[in-house]
Amino acid sequence: FRPKVLAGRKVVLTAGPTFEAIDPVRGITNSSSGKMGYALARACRQAGAEVVLVSGPVALAAPLGVQRVGVHSALQMRAAVFDALPGADVFIGVAAVADYRPAQAAEHKIKKSGDVLQLSLTPNPDILAEVAALPQAPFCVGFAAESRDLDAYATGKRTAKRLPLLVGNLVQDGLGGDDNEVVLYDDNGRHALGRAAKGELAARIVDHLAALLERRGPS
Ligand code: C5P
Repeated sequence: FRPKVLAGRKVVLTAGPTFEAIDPVRGITNSSSGKMGYALARACRQAGAEVVLVSGPVALAAPLGVQRVGVHSALQMRAAVFDALPGADVFIGVAAVADYRPAQAAEHKIKKSGDVLQLSLTPNPDILAEVAALPQAPFCVGFAAESRDLDAYATGKRTAKRLPLLVGNLVQDGLGGDDNEVVLYDDNGRHALGRAAKGELAARIVDHLAALLERRGPS
């Protein structure tokens, strides 16, 4: 049983991949199980928060007491996040949002031919950066999954997106599995949490963010 460090707070999270349609049966996506985002949503709920989980397509059940909004594309995810945002104290972007989407999804299934097929891709909005740039921004937490140079990339992303807290992990450590190894980056530096089950890490991340939120004062 854990203390209710987020009692009275509203938390909005994104989790899972996004799916960007090419045609009615095909699309571009990222490899993401959603396990870390769902574990965090559960941990926030257990810490007493009201929780809205905006989720891309994953094979996971919504944690008890968490309001889940299912989406497919990055544009749908962004719209659902902005719908859920009023009154939010915390926004946690865990989703592996596709960086690009097909410029135009074909209305009908694209037929196979022997020719080269060119896809034109257009950049997706950065949901987390947009939320963090709002004048009355909630406390924003980002995730960085990297395959190398974690400290440099994670610190760079935290600065670029203006985030008080960023959680970094090396993808070979965590992708798809039940364990992960993460490092927290905030204004005080770097805090390695070591290897643990995603549920346990989620609880430690929540404790850390609640302490930072407390220090920041009432929103
Ligand atoms: O993709 P990137 O490494 O920049 O993602 C870092 C953080 O930004 C993650 O928390 C991710 O959920 C968020 N993000 C987002 N919208 C995007 C890309 C990333 O919210 N289009």
